[in-house]
Amino acid sequence: MDLYEYQAKDLFAAHGVPVLPGAVAETPEQARAEAEKIGGTVVVKAQVKTGGRGKAGGVKLAEGPDEARAKAEAILGMDIKGHTVHRVLVTEASDIAEEYYFSFLLDRANRTFLAMASAEGGVEIEQLATERPEALARVPISPLAGVDRDKALEILRQGNFPAEVLDEAADVVVKLWETFVAEDASLVEVNPLVRDPRNRIIALDGKVTLDDNAAFRQEAHAALVDKAAEDPLEAKAKAKDLNYVKLDGQVGIIGNGAGLVMSTLDVVAYAGEKHGGVRPANFLDIGGGASAEVMAAGLDVILHDPAVRSVFVNVFGGITACDAVATGIVEALKILGDEASKPLVVRLDGNNVEEGRRILAEANHPLVTVVDTMDNAADKAAELAAAGA
Ligand SMILES: Nc1ncnc2c1ncn2[C@@H]1O[C@H](COP(=O)(O)OP(=O)(O)OP(=O)(O)O)[C@@H](O)[C@H]1O
Ligand SMILES: [Mg+2]
Repeated sequence: MDLYEYQAKDLFAAHGVPVLPGAVAETPEQARAEAEKIGGTVVVKAQVKTGGRGKAGGVKLAEGPDEARAKAEAILGMDIKGHTVHRVLVTEASDIAEEYYFSFLLDRANRTFLAMASAEGGVEIEQLATERPEALARVPISPLAGVDRDKALEILRQGNFPAEVLDEAADVVVKLWETFVAEDASLVEVNPLVRDPRNRIIALDGKVTLDDNAAFRQEAHAALVDKAAEDPLEAKAKAKDLNYVKLDGQVGIIGNGAGLVMSTLDVVAYAGEKHGGVRPANFLDIGGGASAEVMAAGLDVILHDPAVRSVFVNVFGGITACDAVATGIVEALKILGDEASKPLVVRLDGNNVEEGRRILAEANHPLVTVVDTMDNAADKAAELAAAGA
């Protein structure tokens, strides 16, 4: 789960990372009131889960409450890269002497954690990384050793941080690492991390991604979920413990095993090219034990996706044999009754396939077509989706 800047800064503050006082506002009037509380010059910042807010006009200085109100009015409702601004952060304005970049992240390719640091922050870091890679230090972090003061100093020196800020910046880096570990984050990024004229180091921005797999031991994180912004189908699937990801096509996909589902998405996208460009509508892995209840839960989510025009059920019988899966499909359709209203293409293979196909043939459900191979089934599902347009 990605956090909003104001949420990231709340976590920073809880772990002792210096941030400036501020509060979120959902209306211009609230922004005015917050600016009044803070006093002096403030910054009004769009809260959206995407980068480049400043460039898009979503970060504005305001001299006093009236101007904060006006700036909030301009920013609220703004569209930034497809994200509508529903909230702004009103925060104290900082005098900035220098802007740096710092992050901790999970480096999947190298199976370790990584610190990235640069004395040339504030700008888009992707640009710096391609144009002047030598200016961006990349230091692997052992998950066992972690980051102590010495390690922090090593990273900062490699990032060319000036000598006079090393001491204080190292303190902040150790606290950012504590945040990263304690909150089960996969990303903690501060751009810019600034030095003010009094040599204080402050996190002026914050980007945090939390690892959803750790949700079971991070009860407080549930409160950070933005329910209003959640995709309703994904929320429903999550409530049913399904591994579901909404995509933007028309062919609903159910399979068992993440690898099989991934390749199913590929064959459907490929087959769809011959049928007017229809594409997969979702990823859904119902896992090994495809019981009738799980199958029904999966079909329930997919059939309620208004974009879906056909469904491809692609199952390879292993520990759960094909006859059990076939029974699951038949039972699921009974559970769903009239709510099942879109054509289903089923491809079964593997353990006990003959019995599985016999069960489906016997049930003879009007919406179900059984196709023997994955490629032919993908083609049939794409054809039905195109015909249902
Ligand atoms: N509290 C503040 N006081 C003074 N200047 C600020 C403050 N917050 C942000 N700025 C200035 O605005 C710039 C952009 O802010 P910020 O980094 O938060 O947004 P962004 O980089 O445009 O958005 P994103 O991080 O989503 O790409 C900063 O580099 C900094 O110069
Ligand atoms: Mg930024």
